[in-house]
Amino acid sequence: DALRERLAGGVEGLLCMLTDPVGADLIAAAPDLRAVSTYAVGTDNIDLAAAAERGIPVGHTPDVLTETSADLALALMLAVMRRIPAGDAEVRAGEWLTWEPARLLGHDLHRATVGIVGLGRIGQAVKRRVEGFGARVVHSGRTDGMPVEQLLEEADVVTLHCPLTDATRGLIDEAALRRMGPDAYLVNTARGPVVDTDALRRALEEGWIAGAALDVTDPEPLPADHPLLSAPNLVVAPHLGSASHETRAEMADIAVDNLLAGLAGTPLPHRAN
Ligand code: GLV
Ligand code: GLV
Repeated sequence: DALRERLAGGVEGLLCMLTDPVGADLIAAAPDLRAVSTYAVGTDNIDLAAAAERGIPVGHTPDVLTETSADLALALMLAVMRRIPAGDAEVRAGEWLTWEPARLLGHDLHRATVGIVGLGRIGQAVKRRVEGFGARVVHSGRTDGMPVEQLLEEADVVTLHCPLTDATRGLIDEAALRRMGPDAYLVNTARGPVVDTDALRRALEEGWIAGAALDVTDPEPLPADHPLLSAPNLVVAPHLGSASHETRAEMADIAVDNLLAGLAGTPLPHRAN
């Protein structure tokens, strides 16, 4: 509502965050708006078509965050597979009394088949990394790779790198999680609503899968008393995919360049619509 009020009063350019819903109604309420620039690569929070109908270009920040986001996916994958946060908590709680042969056992990434859902810029960067670890890679895409059902059955680690669209919302639902198996892990660094949160909670509690690592959640932020946080073998980060000093600075430059180009009526360096 605050954004809507501000946009009504002659505002020509909007620099927004991925947390700002920029729907058709908001765009319609901004009669003077000529350019939108989001400080993110994902544009699911913006009605790109409604903006395009008004001739409003929407800029975003691809490429500069690809490697940084892929690093975070690997960090989460290894954290959940090797139980680092669980171990850290044990040490801090004074529960680590002696080295034990069978304490906090996980699974090896180098022995795993990693299933990449969405082999775009970030998916390909994840593929290079996990191949470096010695893992086997399979993938599933909108127009290439294997069917998602087959990937869920074959992969020991399922890592999501698709955009949030009508086709991917709820893609990882109860049926998908049941296909994965009790030794399989889910990593979501894409968008929270690609995964059905309640189904994931039951999958972890009932052991349909071995664990999950999430950088994005639904809802986001996840309230501290959310039932998902009581589930075992869950690692959660607060949407840190692109959060390195270097990458956030590059994203800021691109977001500003996109906005200035849009206001000047020249082609945006990175236009999403
Ligand atoms: C982060 O999620 C982004 O879309 O940049
Ligand atoms: C572990 O530290 C080992 O020596 O096996």
